[in-house]
Amino acid sequence: MPAPQASRIVAIYPGSFDPITNGHLDLISRGSKLADRLIVAVLQNRRKESLFTVEERVAMLTDSVREYDNVEVGTFRGLLVDYVSKRGANFILRGIRAISDYEYELQIAHMNRRLSPGVETVFLMAGEAYSFISSQLVKEVASLGGNVSGLVPPLVEERLKRRVSETH
Ligand code: PNS
Repeated sequence: MPAPQASRIVAIYPGSFDPITNGHLDLISRGSKLADRLIVAVLQNRRKESLFTVEERVAMLTDSVREYDNVEVGTFRGLLVDYVSKRGANFILRGIRAISDYEYELQIAHMNRRLSPGVETVFLMAGEAYSFISSQLVKEVASLGGNVSGLVPPLVEERLKRRVSETH
């Protein structure tokens, strides 16, 4: 008789990732140690204006997480809790940078638990070196010609420069 499979802990780290920053990467690195498998899930939302397409964001994420054997990149549309159940995940992973993130995250976590009572959200505090970084600010700085080196992975820096030069 085959040995019973040890149950594996699966976590989902959802977001827009437009684009991935070193803050996201820090969370992925730390989150990957809390689960056997960490799925970084990009929301496919046609209504939300984004700088990069979902395919571009997935490509940048995939390149950035290639050193982690237990991290994969996926996409989802619709409700996050439905994706959580489809992937058989045990918890949602989210980061909190500052108190300003807290209210928004609290609302999402409560709504997700209401929609699917078994779903837990685990929060990690952003590393202090990354607590001021957001995709939004990075895009703004890059679009105004500022230096985003060290704030995003090198590939993302290159893609940002290219996208800015295409749109100017
Ligand atoms: O990186 P973001 O943009 O702050 O991520 C927000 C995200 C993707 C986690 C959130 O918008 C989400 O889960 N959207 C999916 C739709 C959904 O499930 N909505 C109900 C719970 S808020």
